Amino acid sequence: MRTAIEDLRALIRQHEHKYYIENQPEISDAEFDVLMKKLEALEAATDAPIPSDSPTQRVGGGAVLGTRIPHRNPMLSLNNSYNEQELREFDERVRRLLEDIPVEYVTELKIDGLGVSLIYENGVLTRGLTRGDGEYGEDITDNLRTIRSVPLRLVETETPFPTVLEVRGEVFIPKDRLNDINVQREAEGEPPFANPRNAAAGSLRLQNASITASRPLDIFIYTLNHAEGVEFATHTASLELMKRWGLKCNQHTDCHKSIEDVQNYYERWVTERHELRYETDGIVVKVDRFSYQHELGATAKYPRWAIAYKFNAQQATTTIERIDVQVGRTGVLTPVGILEPVTLAGATITNATLHNEQEIQTKDIRIGDRIVLERAGDVIPKIVEVLTADRTGNEIAFVFPDRCPVCDTPVQRTEDEVAVRCVNMACVAQLKRRIAHYASRNALQIEGLGPATIDQLVDKELVRDVADLYALEVEPLSKLDRMGVPSAGNLVYQIEQSKTAPVEKVLFGLGIFHVGETVAELLIEHFLSLDVLSTVTPEEIESIDGIGPQIAESVVNFFSQNQSLLDNLRAAGLHCFKVETASIRPEASAVTASFFSGKTFVVTGSLEGMTRTEASKEIKARGGKVASSVTSKTDYLIAGEGAGSKYAKAVELDIPIIGAADFFEKLQHRDT
Ligand code: IVH
Repeated sequence: MRTAIEDLRALIRQHEHKYYIENQPEISDAEFDVLMKKLEALEAATDAPIPSDSPTQRVGGGAVLGTRIPHRNPMLSLNNSYNEQELREFDERVRRLLEDIPVEYVTELKIDGLGVSLIYENGVLTRGLTRGDGEYGEDITDNLRTIRSVPLRLVETETPFPTVLEVRGEVFIPKDRLNDINVQREAEGEPPFANPRNAAAGSLRLQNASITASRPLDIFIYTLNHAEGVEFATHTASLELMKRWGLKCNQHTDCHKSIEDVQNYYERWVTERHELRYETDGIVVKVDRFSYQHELGATAKYPRWAIAYKFNAQQATTTIERIDVQVGRTGVLTPVGILEPVTLAGATITNATLHNEQEIQTKDIRIGDRIVLERAGDVIPKIVEVLTADRTGNEIAFVFPDRCPVCDTPVQRTEDEVAVRCVNMACVAQLKRRIAHYASRNALQIEGLGPATIDQLVDKELVRDVADLYALEVEPLSKLDRMGVPSAGNLVYQIEQSKTAPVEKVLFGLGIFHVGETVAELLIEHFLSLDVLSTVTPEEIESIDGIGPQIAESVVNFFSQNQSLLDNLRAAGLHCFKVETASIRPEASAVTASFFSGKTFVVTGSLEGMTRTEASKEIKARGGKVASSVTSKTDYLIAGEGAGSKYAKAVELDIPIIGAADFFEKLQHRDT
């Protein structure tokens, strides 16, 4: 008999399927959240171990990457064709080899993402691998588990689950979500991803599965590679069963009796693909019947029963009118080609990044050149060719500046980097970008502090660092262009409000290289305050799961150079500097009476309505200690949704576990 907890897991899985796979949710997000919370509470209250396929177990601790694991059989690549003639040649070869038996072809969209392999044992996801070199893949199970359209457990059908099932598919990021990720990356001082494919690849290889979980990854399964004990006649039949097992397969799949029909399918998608949410770079044509596939076999690289039929990249020709150099928040100088406007794949393109000095030299790009632009992955245009034959002799070679175009400081070139930087921390271009970042929605969220205002504040020397914002007064502000007393008053109010921002937002807002939102949260969860963080060693920072030497070095560097900025923010009255006292409520002075006092806690998973940072502060306010990893010295583990490796460790060490509901209750009762 199934227990209530198993029934609830099954119900949540059904709703996940409706939402993430069928795109037809039957309940609201809020109702779904209630079910999840209920499951978490039930799981926290039972002594039974939480199975790995429970919907609460998508995000474990860190991600274990790097283990190379052989594929059951090689993950082959596809031979490409680019025109109707090449398609016909494929068809002729197939029919010749099969001695003219009538063949049916399946056509599918070729999704431009990353090939992965998923292994289910008795219906439960046990492993996920990258394609790797085709022979060996890399273990990315922890990261693949975070993708909501990857079921952790298959749906039961009348066909029993094979003991071992291996399916293969493509992981991708929807086109319209790339921008969100790039805005965040820019805030972190990381270069933007050029296309959704790179974004998906980068996300799958992250060391910290909770960051992967925050990326909008999705999947389409396109091959049933192995199903122990289950036989199929055709690829179409295997797709049908995979769908019934709850796997997400693409809906735009057709079956054709003639190669002309295949050509029609291709032509239809040449235009319609632009309406899809995801990138496609062609179609895939497959012989439907498995017995024919086996008969045709494969070469060392490609199957003979399938072929990719690629779409042409969209190209346009235009002229580079001039080259500007922009200075980013971290001082990197980026050359940008300003173009004669041209339409490409439905968008008007007026500029194209030239990336860096080296790129300009390698491609020999000159001002006045005619160039061929291509929308790689149909998102960011890039220059694929300089039409040197069109040169008139009036083109001008671009000389990369030796000085910052904004502050005139000599630029710095490092040997191991192609980037050229303005290293003047006081450079107004950098300062403007830093202030914009500090005020941005995901940082201090200061409404009304847009680029036009920031330009004036910096140019008029009213603001020299972000702490100066707090000294702004209504009267001088109201004298700025397009300001006036009401807007100035509102801006001062917004700036004042921002003083109450949580410490992790302030840390993110400081714009430390490599410190994005998630890293900022991890750092604060561990060190609790900026004062502590500003005194720690790189080794202490690196001891946090998912944080590597690059981040650690960047953080330590920042604080060694910006102590006075911290002092100024403290003097401005930011609440996060007095957090220890701020979050202690009046009665909290009686900390000795608290359940928490003198005990060591580890907080894991997500707690409803409270961040882990807040939970840590509450515990500390009641006299408890908070540690980052579970050891024999831990007194209690506080486990919220998605608790993973720390939970397992606590069970192993026999450390009592407190669920979210219980934790909140204990926070209320100071003397328990
Ligand atoms: S079938 C042995 N079907 O394209 C053939 N592949 O360029 C197995 N891809 O490695 C591949 N969409 O990662 C197949 N509908 C689809 C696909 C697809 C994208 C990827 C896959 C493969 C690459 C080959």
